[in-house]
Amino acid sequence: MIQLNNVTKSYHTERIETLALDAVTLSIADGEFVAIMGPSGCGKTTLLNLMGLLDTPDAGELLLDDQSIGGQSDRKLSRLRNRKIGFVFQSFHLVQDLNVVDNVEVPLLYRPGVSGRERRRLAREALDQVGLSSRIFHFPNQLSGGQQQRVAVARAIVGAPQILLADEPTGNLDSRMGDEIMDLLKQRHDAGSTVVMVTHDQRMADCADRTVRLFDGRQVQ
Ligand SMILES: Nc1ncnc2c1ncn2[C@@H]1O[C@H](COP(=O)(O)OP(=O)(O)OP(=O)(O)O)[C@@H](O)[C@H]1O
Ligand SMILES: [Mg+2]
Repeated sequence: MIQLNNVTKSYHTERIETLALDAVTLSIADGEFVAIMGPSGCGKTTLLNLMGLLDTPDAGELLLDDQSIGGQSDRKLSRLRNRKIGFVFQSFHLVQDLNVVDNVEVPLLYRPGVSGRERRRLAREALDQVGLSSRIFHFPNQLSGGQQQRVAVARAIVGAPQILLADEPTGNLDSRMGDEIMDLLKQRHDAGSTVVMVTHDQRMADCADRTVRLFDGRQVQ
């Protein structure tokens, strides 16, 4: 379970302070598929980053499987993240110096007991699922935006993570390819994973069990 209690997060830049999340309380059950919606700048990515242990709240509490995340060392958090969480970033965050199949293998490098051969097999399988078998030796800058997005999805699902966090995973795709990516997220959900997906697309949100709406850093009904 993912539980946020009164979570607040601000960003400080030279001139202004932005309250990105304002006392958000939210609970996502194991195996639930939740869509996050709301206008640009309302805090969706911030929320996902906190759930993905990529950032920490200023105030309030985040619990993962009934364990409070506050006060844990960076090392412990990254171990937890590597073990449990797959992340599709809004801006992909592919490693530019690695080709497609090596990018997809990255999450498996942290798994003990997965051989190089097994890593390659799983990565190719995930790339096959996103329709990129013919591009595995390309580098990210040789791919279109939609293809990079699909590599990011393959990398997020390759380790069959318990929690899958996806930030606009279909934002750069046409409707047919978007539907295929949605089918992959649904497959993860059917396999028992918790899926949290940010989307602007009501049709995509309709695939989820429930939609959480944010406005100006607050949850609205
Ligand atoms: N690193 C940062 N430094 C300063 N301000 C930030 C930073 N990241 C986000 N913000 C601000 O926090 C607010 C929430 O940003 P966030 O990225 O969570 O929005 P979002 O809902 O994901 O928007 P979008 O739909 O455009 O992706 C915005 O006002 C944004 O300008
Ligand atoms: Mg965002």
